[in-house]
Amino acid sequence: MTETPRSLTDLATLDRATLVRLLDSAEEFTGPEAASAHRDLLAGEAVALLFCEPSTRTHFSFELAAKRLGADVLSFHEAASSHTKGETLVETISTLAAMNVRYFVVRHAEDGIMAALAAKLPPGTALVSAGEGTLGHPTQGLLDVLTIRLHQREIPGLTVAIVGDIAHSRVARSAAAALQTLGVGALRLVGPEAFLPAPGQLPGTAMTDLDAGLEGADVIMALRIQRERMEASALPDLDDYRRGYGLSIERIEAHAKPDALLLHPGPVNWGVELAPELADWPRCLIREQVRNGVAVRMAVLARMHETLGPHV
Ligand code: CP
Repeated sequence: MTETPRSLTDLATLDRATLVRLLDSAEEFTGPEAASAHRDLLAGEAVALLFCEPSTRTHFSFELAAKRLGADVLSFHEAASSHTKGETLVETISTLAAMNVRYFVVRHAEDGIMAALAAKLPPGTALVSAGEGTLGHPTQGLLDVLTIRLHQREIPGLTVAIVGDIAHSRVARSAAAALQTLGVGALRLVGPEAFLPAPGQLPGTAMTDLDAGLEGADVIMALRIQRERMEASALPDLDDYRRGYGLSIERIEAHAKPDALLLHPGPVNWGVELAPELADWPRCLIREQVRNGVAVRMAVLARMHETLGPHV
């Protein structure tokens, strides 16, 4: 898939300089000055949030990001839209573009939908993925890396363990792609055999032993089991899963570095992949990730604006 400056659908296609520029810009947006300096950046523009899958964090943080940059926000409710009459997403985008909507943020369950939409994107409009099937969740990958950076961890040299249902995770793909481009020291993909990606699908070393995977880790990125992307028959027994791959303070402190950071994209299945006690553990950064999500999405919309230029 080729990224154009007016689409952001995959982190694997971004070079290091572009990634760093986006992260630097997002870091600026975490401060009050940048946010207030750009509060009219998208004045007169409309951002359409076309979410065809459920979302809380991504949807509301894009909405906040767009509003903080001065844009109007259109939210799409698939069940109440003309999709129910057979209209396709390409047609929806074209229809909204005719109303001078120029920014489209799309979440969809289908792998390959972003490439299809990008290929038919109306002139003068921008497309951002808010999560695509199992393929990618670029703004989540950016906010994960930003959160690590804001804790003064330089990505080169870090040992990062991604733990859980990696095979079905678009979050893992985007995070792994960004970490690899930024020169991560070691990337471990830890989970039961059935949750590991096919060989070569993701950078990193596949491991089935959680304790070994956590050994000396600087950053642990936990994932939930993506029930919505697997057959019910493929679900593991949750007690077995918790024993094998559930993270607890004790387990992390026994194996990871003493200052190791814990991330999770949310929503969390507390008591399955994470012990409930981790919610208030000082190095559990879940709330910081959510907060940084707004800054990342402001940076991405600002980058799209830079490419499209002012509305005429
Ligand atoms: N991390 C994430 O994508 O969460 P939502 O599904 O709530 O947007």
